[in-house]
Amino acid sequence: MSNYTIERVNTGVPGLDELVEGGFPKGDTILIAGKAGTGKSILAIQFLYNGAVKYGETGVLVTLEEPPRLIKRNMMNFGMDLAKLEKERKLAIVDLSPSKEVTPVTMGEFPSFDLSGLEAIIMSHVKKLKATRVVIDTLSILAYKFRSRDILREEFFKLTANITKSGVTLLLTSEIPEHHLGLGVFDVEAFLASGVLVLYNEKISDTLRSRSIEVLKLRGSKHSSRIHPMRITEVGVRVFPGEISPGV
Ligand SMILES: Nc1ncnc2c1ncn2[C@@H]1O[C@H](COP(=O)(O)OP(=O)(O)OP(=O)(O)O)[C@@H](O)[C@H]1O
Ligand SMILES: [Mg+2]
Repeated sequence: MSNYTIERVNTGVPGLDELVEGGFPKGDTILIAGKAGTGKSILAIQFLYNGAVKYGETGVLVTLEEPPRLIKRNMMNFGMDLAKLEKERKLAIVDLSPSKEVTPVTMGEFPSFDLSGLEAIIMSHVKKLKATRVVIDTLSILAYKFRSRDILREEFFKLTANITKSGVTLLLTSEIPEHHLGLGVFDVEAFLASGVLVLYNEKISDTLRSRSIEVLKLRGSKHSSRIHPMRITEVGVRVFPGEISPGV
């Protein structure tokens, strides 16, 4: 393979790889944005699960919001046994959820707050497991810590660049606040990410909502420019690449 060929990392999420030329570009940072409950966490964790089970790639999940106990319980509904992957050393879950009193994220507040502690923790797990997939869920929690957009941008840039420089593919989730027009806090995440996926769960009538997914950008890729239906089924997120969403 030449130096100029983009290596693709399969997500294994049914239907999704078809929208992105077979997978995410290896070593890139991909943002998954969406309002609350749109399926960001499930999709991101599916990427790790499939990596470990189908593609022989180990992963690190950094959870800043949901405690691992609940994540494991919820993913079990989709037949995904994360505890087993942990035991097999195919997955590390880094618990930085609010249930923990002191974390590298709560230690410092502005103006001293930076992301170097978080980076060190992530990289130590990446090295230990030789991980090639990392998920940070969610970036929004971190972004709220910063008072200045410039510092935030710089810190995020350092963090994502250092994690991905050895070929790790990084997925970040970001919550779009209700009634918000942009992609998230300060919209910096989209500026930094090489790719942006947006998940929707829009009301299409008084009694119906419809889930869909859009590849907003993906550098170096000829991706779908349509909004496609998506469902959360007994196997997790499922995308329907041959259909166009009626909803959005
Ligand atoms: N077993 C299931 N079957 C079908 N749908 C489910 C199932 N479990 C969860 N869901 C749907 O998935 C949603 C949660 O998905 P997820 O946690 O990935 O959302 P999120 O975008 O990460 O939300 P948040 O912004 O709150 O973190 C639930 O609100 C529910 O609608
Ligand atoms: Mg979530």
